[in-house]
Amino acid sequence: MNAADSELVEGLLEREGYKRAASPDSADALFVNTCAIREHAEEKVHSRLGNFQKFKQERPDMVIGVLGCMAQSLKHDLLDNKPYVDVILGPDSYRRLPGLLKRHKEDKTSQVDTTLSRFEVYDDLFPSRQEGINAWVSIMRGCDKFCTFCIVPFTRGRERSRSVESILAEVEQAVTDGFVEITLLGQNVNSYNYEGKRFHQLLETVAKIPGLKRIRYTSPHPQDITEDLLVTMASHANICNYVHLPLQAGSDRILKRMNRTYSRDHFTNLAGRVREVLPNCGISTDIIVGFPGETDAEFKETLDVMEEIKFDSAFTFKYSKRRGTKATEYEDQILEEVKQTRLEKVIVAQKSHTLERNQHYVGRVESVLAEKKSKRSIHQLAGRTDSNKWVIFDKEDVQIKDIVPVHILEARGISLHGQLLKKAEAA
Ligand code: 5AD
Ligand code: SF4
Repeated sequence: MNAADSELVEGLLEREGYKRAASPDSADALFVNTCAIREHAEEKVHSRLGNFQKFKQERPDMVIGVLGCMAQSLKHDLLDNKPYVDVILGPDSYRRLPGLLKRHKEDKTSQVDTTLSRFEVYDDLFPSRQEGINAWVSIMRGCDKFCTFCIVPFTRGRERSRSVESILAEVEQAVTDGFVEITLLGQNVNSYNYEGKRFHQLLETVAKIPGLKRIRYTSPHPQDITEDLLVTMASHANICNYVHLPLQAGSDRILKRMNRTYSRDHFTNLAGRVREVLPNCGISTDIIVGFPGETDAEFKETLDVMEEIKFDSAFTFKYSKRRGTKATEYEDQILEEVKQTRLEKVIVAQKSHTLERNQHYVGRVESVLAEKKSKRSIHQLAGRTDSNKWVIFDKEDVQIKDIVPVHILEARGISLHGQLLKKAEAA
């Protein structure tokens, strides 16, 4: 989402005559687009700002800006403790950036705008994209779910959806510009609702755009994965066979405390249904360990659900206290050592599930989109299956952006290794 927002800001600044600088130390202005989701993300921003400060010591006229979610949540801290930050702008205020830069130039005062909007979707602004495979297309912003651990509803505000017309125009432009894959984006992508048009209907319309080889979307909430959505995915070859299904926790009591609005049973049934309607669908998840009050037995339920579903991959996190969220008020916070031990356990479990899932691919022929050169060898390429698995294979005469049949020979670590199937063999 932040990568997409940065492209939006770049597009907006280009319209005003600004240009991307060749390197940070030669820039007149440096911005960091920030994430506040966990403490670790914030720490990274603080260290990046430390680097920016060094550049500014060399060139005092340089403007330093903090954009996005941390600007929203930490503006007072930034104003008090980081006087070298000149501009602080929340995720609904990007349009004001050129104006605030101008004002800062005139009077050298700090410029701050962190107002949240109920309407801003940057409908008319097209992002400035570097050439590549995938184009991020934001379709909705904000979140109304209020999971008790999550800062997003506070930093990004209420849910609002962008018009179908402007989304289609942006996707068509991306295809014309040479992108072969698009990822529809939103904090809660499948609660998309524009004048009654729901997410699966939008997806269907996008899938019909000529020249679009692959469509992905992220991040959905399990509550909004509908039968209609699964059927739409099954009916269009260019909608990737991949669903991100964030579990967070396996215990009903913890799920309730998290305000996740589904039970363990509902979740496991849903995962089963995904695999029924979309055979071989890649399923990834998010897991939080050490949520306040989580007992050993409740944590074990997370491992049990993981064992039952065997996700293809998982993003795993230790619970991190976020200012202003309900879960910070719970008194039964979990010790850091306990969180760490639990995290290690979910990582070990997931590693073996990933390998097990990947082993099912051995012997199959998969359509792989060639995306980049392999890191290991100049004679190899790396690409993804539509179920989101990385495959390494010998380059031969394949060009980046081709979709080619690859015979999978081995599952190793988190990726697959295979051999290009020659046209004659494929036929
Ligand atoms: N602590 C740990 N993980 C969190 N996430 C969101 N908020 C927190 C938090 N306070 C995780 C969730 C979410 C993912 C994007 O980040 O798993 O799905
Ligand atoms: Fe955060 Fe996602 Fe929950 Fe919204 S649905 S509050 S973005 S975890």
